[in-house]
Amino acid sequence: MVARPSLVLGVCDAFNVSLGGKLIATVPLPSVSHLNNAFTTYDPGACEELRSVWSYPSTHTRDSASPMAPWVGNFSCEPFLDARTPCQIGPLVRYSVKATSVRDYQQTIQFTKQHNIRLVIRNNGHDYLGKSSGVGAVALWTHHMKDIEFSDYTSPHYRGRAIKVGPGLQGIEAMAAAHAQSNVLVVGNCETVGVAGGYYQGGGHGQLASWLGLAADQVLAWDVVTAADEVITATPTQNPDLYWALSGGGGGTYGVVISMTSKVYPELRTATANLTFSIDPQFSPRFWEVVQIFVAGIQPLTDIGGVAIWELTNRTFVVSPVTVPGGTQALLQTWLQPTLELLVRYQMSFNYTIHEYTTFYESYREMNRSSNVTEYQIGGRLIPRSTVDRSLSKLFHALQTITEHGAVVSGVSLNVSRTPVPDNAVNPAWRDTAISIVIAMPFDYHNRTANRMSRGLITSTLLPLLEELTPGSGAYLNEADIDQPNWQSTFYGSNYAQLAAIKLKYDPDHFFYARTAVGSEYWVESVDGRLCHAV
Ligand SMILES: Cc1cc2nc3c(=O)[nH]c(=O)nc-3n(C[C@H](O)[C@H](O)[C@H](O)COP(=O)(O)OP(=O)(O)OC[C@H]3O[C@@H](n4cnc5c(N)ncnc54)[C@H](O)[C@@H]3O)c2cc1C
Ligand SMILES: *[C@@H]1O[C@H](CO)[C@@H](O)[C@H](O)[C@H]1NC(C)=O
Ligand SMILES: *[C@@H]1O[C@H](CO)[C@@H](O)[C@H](O)[C@H]1NC(C)=O
Ligand SMILES: *[C@@H]1O[C@H](CO)[C@@H](O)[C@H](O)[C@H]1NC(C)=O
Ligand SMILES: *[C@@H]1O[C@H](CO)[C@@H](O)[C@H](O)[C@H]1NC(C)=O
Ligand SMILES: *[C@@H]1O[C@H](CO)[C@@H](O)[C@H](O)[C@H]1NC(C)=O
Ligand SMILES: *[C@@H]1O[C@H](CO)[C@@H](O)[C@H](O)[C@H]1NC(C)=O
Ligand SMILES: *[C@@H]1O[C@H](CO)[C@@H](O)[C@H](O)[C@H]1NC(C)=O
Ligand SMILES: *[C@@H]1O[C@H](CO)[C@@H](O)[C@H](O)[C@H]1NC(C)=O
Ligand SMILES: *[C@@H]1O[C@H](CO)[C@@H](O)[C@H](O)[C@H]1NC(C)=O
Repeated sequence: MVARPSLVLGVCDAFNVSLGGKLIATVPLPSVSHLNNAFTTYDPGACEELRSVWSYPSTHTRDSASPMAPWVGNFSCEPFLDARTPCQIGPLVRYSVKATSVRDYQQTIQFTKQHNIRLVIRNNGHDYLGKSSGVGAVALWTHHMKDIEFSDYTSPHYRGRAIKVGPGLQGIEAMAAAHAQSNVLVVGNCETVGVAGGYYQGGGHGQLASWLGLAADQVLAWDVVTAADEVITATPTQNPDLYWALSGGGGGTYGVVISMTSKVYPELRTATANLTFSIDPQFSPRFWEVVQIFVAGIQPLTDIGGVAIWELTNRTFVVSPVTVPGGTQALLQTWLQPTLELLVRYQMSFNYTIHEYTTFYESYREMNRSSNVTEYQIGGRLIPRSTVDRSLSKLFHALQTITEHGAVVSGVSLNVSRTPVPDNAVNPAWRDTAISIVIAMPFDYHNRTANRMSRGLITSTLLPLLEELTPGSGAYLNEADIDQPNWQSTFYGSNYAQLAAIKLKYDPDHFFYARTAVGSEYWVESVDGRLCHAV
């Protein structure tokens, strides 16, 4: 096995000069929480402050190395441990290049290639599978690439308004800019996720996904720097294979995206509601009955453009929100009526809000309850419509069992095949999907063993309960189990072989690597996390 070495100091200074000083040596944010660390001085006040904002995505998006998914750091340096525990860089990238131009991309690719250093693409740092971190790596940090441009786009495939964005641009920023033009575009439910980074490249769902399709379905063009250091454009007619792969085939492996051009649509009236109710342990079957009525009843609403985002534990059910772009409050109320009537009949208390907004943007903002980072370890499964239609009680039996293990189930009920489905690399399982399910076990900031056990529980016990009911389906590659067996077929379905061939064509030397990305089986992460050639 041949290891990729880490950066040798000295070489580093010349690189920094060539970048005009944009090279950042990683200082783990929580170093202020540790005595005698190699990075900074221990500062209990700063540590306390860091703890209070640790749950906010902005704490991590503004840093050049901090992973948002808590387990990615492997307890190497974190703010909740005893001050006497050591603080090390561990799996975090060692250096980052704060990229602000295509030239920065090219210099970083050339330098890491020349010195055989692992390159990581870090955008806003949301990745759940550890793709935006890496032992001994240099990160190409694209968070500051936030250009926006609107145009009237003309191509053989589309004539209409379009937006061109840099990868760093975040959902709420893109939505606000589009709104100022009386337009909307597909963005994630979480306002801080980057648009053209892992989200559009990986598929991308959100409140407009039933109305307009997945994020990847909206793409008109990608501008990319390849492993050969060339700047190329990929559209349905220019480098169409690369266009196909980048539109849903996952980030971080075919090239580095400079910008993405997406369709935008006229603003529209939007009806939205939220609903919360809890279990009465004396009548627990009623709770499960109402939840089923809601989930089954909402399915036809997704066929006319609705999306419901819900969360289930063995105590509570929260819908936040259910949205019908283009719909009226009266229409949405009709769809929710059976659930509400049952709650009244069973005398269960609930909180319910419904509203009609003149624009989608107002609805999206109103529901912008600052989404915290996910302090859970997760696994995911795409639930086909046939399972909801024909095996609903089995599905709910499985979900109830999952919650009784202490897991939170989050569901996105949607239909991403009601609009014409473009030819792209989105996992074909998405087109039959009724619910994208994520199951999540709380992360314990103090107990490595507890986390290892809950990770094993997700992989070996909880996900198989859903897999058994959904043969041939898959999982959403951005919201999935880091240890998913057969991830190639589960995340990419029948597209895998074609994607692997495109990866080899554009990156024959396997320069780009990201865990569970197409072609990543070429490398093996050794025990300490370094990349070695698989033999
Ligand atoms: C709190 C939270 C909420 C979420 N909500 C949603 C949601 O509503 N809908 C949804 O679909 N997903 C959602 N996700 C998942 C999200 O889509 C993925 O985590 C996505 O990868 C984030 O992209 P990023 O660019 O912000 O993050 P990063 O972690 O910086 O990037 C992820 C990976 O994408 C690749 N990548 C990033 N930028 C580039 C680039 N310029 N060129 C090439 N490759 C690149 C790299 O492999 C990188 O490692 C959520 C995640 C979190 C943590
Ligand atoms: C790169 O140069 C800038 C500006 O001189 C400096 O602030 C920064 O610390 C340098 N980075 C490294 C890793 O030395
Ligand atoms: C988000 O995190 C903050 C700070 O840790 C906490 O006070 C708040 O309750 C959290 N919000 C949600 C919705 O979990
Ligand atoms: C429900 O919606 C209202 C506005 O319509 C919002 O103020 C409230 O925070 C929402 N509650 C939840 C739990 O999402
Ligand atoms: C409804 O909201 C109130 C105030 O936030 C809260 O105290 C109550 O527990 C909620 N009820 C249910 C059933 O969720
Ligand atoms: C979203 O919510 C956060 C936290 O409440 C707030 O700081 C931010 O300004 C909001 N964004 C928009 C566009 O309203
Ligand atoms: C929910 O599950 C937990 C175990 O994870 C259990 O302690 C609790 O009693 C359960 N609650 C209900 C209402 O069943
Ligand atoms: C989506 O809606 C269309 C009708 O517009 C329907 O034909 C199709 O079966 C639905 N697909 C799923 C997965 O719900
Ligand atoms: C850590 O979690 C494991 C598994 O839940 C438990 O057995 C152990 O007691 C915990 N350790 C501490 C120090 O709490
Ligand atoms: C995670 O930490 C443990 C304990 O320090 C160590 O043995 C292991 O090698 C680390 N794993 C990685 C991938 O760094």
